[in-house]
Amino acid sequence: MQAIQIIQAEHSKLWRLATTINTVADEIDSGGALTPEFFEAVFNYIETFVDRSHHPREDDFLFRLLRQRTDQANPLLDQLQSEHRSGPDTLRSLRQSLGQARQGELGQFTVALRAYTQGLKQHIRTEERELIPLAKEALTADDWHEINRAFLDNQDPLFGEHVKEEFRALYHRIATLAPESVGLGGLSSGELKPGTAPRVDFLLKVTGLQSSYGRIKALKGIDFEVRRGETVALVGANGAGKTTFLRALSGVQPTDGGSIHFDGRDISKLRSDLRMRGGICQCPEGRQVFGPLSIDDNLRLGAYTQPKSQVAGDLEKIFSMFPILKEKRRLPAGTLSGGQQQMLAIGRALMGRPKLLLLDEPSMGLAPLLVEEVFNVVKTLKSEGMTIILAEQNAFAALAIADRGYVMETGTITLSGTGQELISNEQVRAAYLGM
Ligand SMILES: Nc1ncnc2c1ncn2[C@@H]1O[C@H](COP(=O)(O)OP(=O)(O)O)[C@@H](O)[C@H]1O
Ligand SMILES: [Mg+2]
Repeated sequence: MQAIQIIQAEHSKLWRLATTINTVADEIDSGGALTPEFFEAVFNYIETFVDRSHHPREDDFLFRLLRQRTDQANPLLDQLQSEHRSGPDTLRSLRQSLGQARQGELGQFTVALRAYTQGLKQHIRTEERELIPLAKEALTADDWHEINRAFLDNQDPLFGEHVKEEFRALYHRIATLAPESVGLGGLSSGELKPGTAPRVDFLLKVTGLQSSYGRIKALKGIDFEVRRGETVALVGANGAGKTTFLRALSGVQPTDGGSIHFDGRDISKLRSDLRMRGGICQCPEGRQVFGPLSIDDNLRLGAYTQPKSQVAGDLEKIFSMFPILKEKRRLPAGTLSGGQQQMLAIGRALMGRPKLLLLDEPSMGLAPLLVEEVFNVVKTLKSEGMTIILAEQNAFAALAIADRGYVMETGTITLSGTGQELISNEQVRAAYLGM
């Protein structure tokens, strides 16, 4: 039921957005400044995404077929569809309210925002708790086939691949314009470039990898493969061994067994700086930017194994992806917000021109809006053909964008499969997704 997974992923995205809107409303109520551009971006996103893509697909396929199968669903569907239909009106009145807020009437605006997010969350809850279980029960395999085909149709002019690109850019704009506390806190909106199709062959092959801290075995024989152009998620609870594994790949963590083949050669005994020169670049857990150094210098550090001649051009590429870093390039990295530091840490890793990018919990400790934005950045890199290992405790979001995934428990891989297989796996849902 891939359509259900898509709907659920979209729900969690909207839920995060609702949470963000509430946080910003609270800030305005306690004297924070109004940022009209941010709200315009939010309304544009919702209008484009919800009213043009999320709701029409539900209405035209899921709801229509469900009505055909059972009468029982009608009252529920009537309610949900009337909420869908009133969406554009609600947005129009929110935009009016924003206009008044610009004139100084802030109180009414935040009340309207809260009413809106409350309605949105209630709508999502009803779909998750009532509609989806009902659909799973009542719809036939043929129905699902039709629904899935519609949801997965990348050529569809309403919600195909190029429209997704548009949504991503709109979302990126929200994260960039959001107040410092919840967003990237910049004032220019960046470009996220659409990409090219990846090639397919093995870039990394790990066999029986072991590593220990004293007597504690942290990796107990890991087998792991990554094809060129793939995004592979490594999910598992805190303490599972994800960081140890990534550090073993980049060569800063000693291993005591097994082998690592990368880009056609055995690098098991290679020094870490030579692995980096060879194209394994790590964006470490907890970002680890150098606070007193400028943003510029932090990025340059990422290029220390690279020829000087390419640094200026690469810097500009990073800046076009994260314009906020360009605006602040001369400031100490310590002055950046958490989300900005994460972008800096990713940018620094990209300065090493990775063939394989290792991302260690990039969403950790970030506000919900930025969690989404970090995953959008990963999607963009993926669409440009980058090969990525994404270690995350945030299993749902990581698996949702990954081609394949591995589940790690106390130093062992317990499950592997495509991202979608793992999301649907009962064991994974119970253990990591809290479902
Ligand atoms: N520096 C260290 N010294 C001793 N034990 C460590 C060290 N770092 C991690 N460990 C242990 O190794 C195991 C795996 O940790 P880690 O790789 O950080 O997991 P994850 O990244 O999945 O949270 C844990 O049991 C952890 O306590
Ligand atoms: Mg870790």
